[in-house]
Amino acid sequence: MQNYNIVLIPGDGIGPEITKSAIKVLNAVEQYFGTYHLVFDKHKAGAELYQQDGMAISNSTFQICRLADAIFKGPVGLPSVRKSDGTEGGLLGGILRNGLDVYANVRPIKLYQHVYTPLKATPGLIDLIIIRENTEGLYSSRGIGVSNNDAAVDNLLMTRVGVERVVRFAFNMAAGRKRTIQDDIKKVTCVAKTNVLKSHVFFSEIFNEIAQEFPGIETEYLYPDAAASDLITRPDKFDIMVMENFVGDILSDLAGAVVGGLGMCPSGNYGDDNAYFEPVHGSAPDILVNGKANPIGQILSGAMMLRYIGEINAADFLETVVDDVLMSGKISIGKDGYPTNGTESVTMSLINKIKNT
Ligand code: NAD
Ligand code: IPM
Ligand code: MN
Repeated sequence: MQNYNIVLIPGDGIGPEITKSAIKVLNAVEQYFGTYHLVFDKHKAGAELYQQDGMAISNSTFQICRLADAIFKGPVGLPSVRKSDGTEGGLLGGILRNGLDVYANVRPIKLYQHVYTPLKATPGLIDLIIIRENTEGLYSSRGIGVSNNDAAVDNLLMTRVGVERVVRFAFNMAAGRKRTIQDDIKKVTCVAKTNVLKSHVFFSEIFNEIAQEFPGIETEYLYPDAAASDLITRPDKFDIMVMENFVGDILSDLAGAVVGGLGMCPSGNYGDDNAYFEPVHGSAPDILVNGKANPIGQILSGAMMLRYIGEINAADFLETVVDDVLMSGKISIGKDGYPTNGTESVTMSLINKIKNT
């Protein structure tokens, strides 16, 4: 029996509820295989902890994260919990992403059956991955931006090492991935504001250099504003997209809206030595009634984690179960982005499918 040490951070808002759902499903997958065991080590971190201790994560929890096989994290943060500089205090992005140097934020966007989309799109025909640079870009100004009464400045940083590694990650992912559409064509789209920003020209030039190492992979260059439009009007043309941190933050929420809302969207933050897995969305403080949230993004983040630790069959199995149960119509996601019959119905439908397989 292979044991894996997983740090569990349930988070704020809907975090505890959707991580609970995901862990029940992960436990069912584990029982189905019977060959490995996820040992969850639960730690408090986020806005509630910040309110209590003035820190979003303790030093000891961070050290435990560094040594773990992986981290499974719910959303954190509450808009009301702020630092003296006006930014939020309960977030972990800067601490975990920079602290663990997890430079590639992988955000798969896939349209499933029985999920409401505002587009006239066919399920299966949207299957793209946004790769967001995760440690620099505009967010490297986190905590060090300056302002007075009359003006404010945040800086955008791009380094050669930082751009090269995330772009190479994107090409390697394109080379290795199977997708539901046009599997014979591998493509990486560089999304950069090269018509205006020197830093984005730098990103695009390095993209171009790395592309030469991957002659079998098509390339495409788009400005972020045009990419936003194409994600709505022809999302089926995308395979892998790579971009600067802030651009990736915005476009991944936009793309999520196209495939049934943020609750459908998983993510993985990968570095050379660590990785952590969380849904793309936040703590959803506007969902006041418990039991409404869509846990699928958190559950599919669990599948990404299984793949990362090496349990590839379990990862494939869980993704297929989600696909099959949505296909069967036993779960559906409405126009409001919520599961038609609540969070627990999703959990139970997936567990029943696993038990009956
Ligand atoms: P949000 O992602 O929490 O919510 C945006 C919208 O999506 C809301 O209408 C919400 O109800 C809906 N939504 C989100 N998750 C859903 C789900 N699973 N099922 C159904 N609907 C869902 O973004 P926000 O309101 O801008 O931010 C709330 C808090 O979360 C803030 O403190 C923000 O900083 C934080 N945040 C944290 C993370 C993270 O931990 N990774 C990511 C984004 C935002
Ligand atoms: C995300 C979030 C975070 C980010 C916030 C909460 C700091 O929006 O993971 O997309 O922008 O990095
Ligand atoms: Mn975001």
